[in-house]
Amino acid sequence: MSDDFIMQMRPWFGQEEKDALAAYMEEDGFLTEFRRTAAFEADIAAFTGAKHCVVVNNGTISLTLAALAVGVQAGDEVIVPNYTMIATPNSVQMFGAKPVFVDVERDTLCMGIEAARAAITPRIKALMLVSANGRYPAAGIEAYEKLCSENNIILIEDSAQSLGSHYPDGTHIGRKGLVGSFSFSAPKIISTGQGGALITDDDDVAARLRRLKDFGRAGGGNDIHDSVGYNFKFTELQAVIGQEQMKKLPWRVARKREIYARYRGNLKGVNQIGFFDQNLSHTTPWFIDCVAEDRAALQDHLKAAGIGTRVMYPPINRQEAYNVPGDHPVSEWIGEKGLWLPSATQLSDGDVDRVTDAILGFYGS
Ligand SMILES: Cc1ncc(COP(=O)(O)O)c(C=O)c1O
Repeated sequence: MSDDFIMQMRPWFGQEEKDALAAYMEEDGFLTEFRRTAAFEADIAAFTGAKHCVVVNNGTISLTLAALAVGVQAGDEVIVPNYTMIATPNSVQMFGAKPVFVDVERDTLCMGIEAARAAITPRIKALMLVSANGRYPAAGIEAYEKLCSENNIILIEDSAQSLGSHYPDGTHIGRKGLVGSFSFSAPKIISTGQGGALITDDDDVAARLRRLKDFGRAGGGNDIHDSVGYNFKFTELQAVIGQEQMKKLPWRVARKREIYARYRGNLKGVNQIGFFDQNLSHTTPWFIDCVAEDRAALQDHLKAAGIGTRVMYPPINRQEAYNVPGDHPVSEWIGEKGLWLPSATQLSDGDVDRVTDAILGFYGS
């Protein structure tokens, strides 16, 4: 990087991925999911400690399949945070279930426990807890497990942003729910272009997930279907890339934490920028997220300095796609002030300093 335009995010594939793809193309021409996909699933299961991993074609359909596999049906309601990528609610809206939006905690941007409790009705079938940028709720995951079990609600974890992040007890995020979901889209810590993964320790849920993604059949290579399923399968090409990316994950986790710590250190004295509670001893920030005063002007200033940024997710209930009433002050605050600074793992220390110097210059600090 250096003097070039610093993009807010870019995926990172190297010679290793190119070589592995070329080698695979010499050895097999099917490309559809097979041994490499199984090996990639085994890598993710080993990394997260989950008993099962099932990969699918993206981290939105993975949430849809998670909901279907745990028994959510059309007409049921699912609690989701009002601050998240819109894929979270869309994943259940897609098959006629209804997302119910609740506000998030100011310090973590994860779903607020009291807001979730207040949203419970007999129609609620599941709760999708989103780990915002690798963080977990300040109330503690145990509070959500208890809330769900007391109310007969299924806990699903949308951990799309959180590969490489753990709860304080060392459990990988995504493993406390009945099922956890990850995304490998281009901006994620590792990418397969598009891709998603589901983890679970439950044999029945894993079996249902496998059927749902493969036309509803119990095993490949036949046309006997005892349930309805779809085609949300992976490809060997994605798996070959994913396996190479997984080898790089431990280093990327460490580097993401260093980059985040450098931003925080460099911007310590800048009152106009606020960060969230990110515990770097066990969580891994996917993006550098903050709230910024004069956000639009700061973005313009940074753009003129060759630095890309991105506004954080607007409150979903206010998006045209949903447009439902609700008072959600924290997600509204993020909609006004939330900003993602350059977050690529490739950033050098010099790149980070260039960004933070430009921010210091803007605020006259
Ligand atoms: C919290 C969250 N959920 C779901 C998704 C959707 O993942 P995908 O883009 O792989 O469909 C994303 C992607 O950014 C996300 O951040």
